[in-house]
Amino acid sequence: MEIKKYRFNIHGDARGKLIAIEENSDIPFTIQRVYYMYDTVNGVRRGYHAHKHLQQILICVHGHCQILMDNGHEKVTVLLDKPDEGLYIANNIWREMFDFSDDAVLMVLASEKYDEADYIRNYEEFIAFVAENT
Ligand code: TYD
Repeated sequence: MEIKKYRFNIHGDARGKLIAIEENSDIPFTIQRVYYMYDTVNGVRRGYHAHKHLQQILICVHGHCQILMDNGHEKVTVLLDKPDEGLYIANNIWREMFDFSDDAVLMVLASEKYDEADYIRNYEEFIAFVAENT
């Protein structure tokens, strides 16, 4: 499975660092929602779903965590530990997030507003959905 990561420009000077992300140029979609996970309890694994349409960019803006991506045929695990790196997750990809460091802040840029109807939260349903839609 192809792992698509985006590297963002770091604007650094004597004061510190700054990263700006613009929709449709730094990332391939219009941002309709931003959310972030922090204070994740040690040992927690979350996610366990895919989306029918939603695309996302995951950025671990502080600390580190691991992301498992599964396209129904192949699984890959990706370490996110850089604030200037975004992991693209297309629709139809099952994801799990785990190994959060205590200080991890995982920010997600999403192409759609929150819509529970877009979620596939059952793995067997996900496999069936992939078979029907690829
Ligand atoms: P949840 O889907 O369980 O997180 P994940 O699958 O990534 O581990 O979301 C946790 C709660 O937050 C759940 O009650 C739904 C709510 N939520 C929103 O209200 N808006 C959002 O954009 C997201 C991602 C979650």
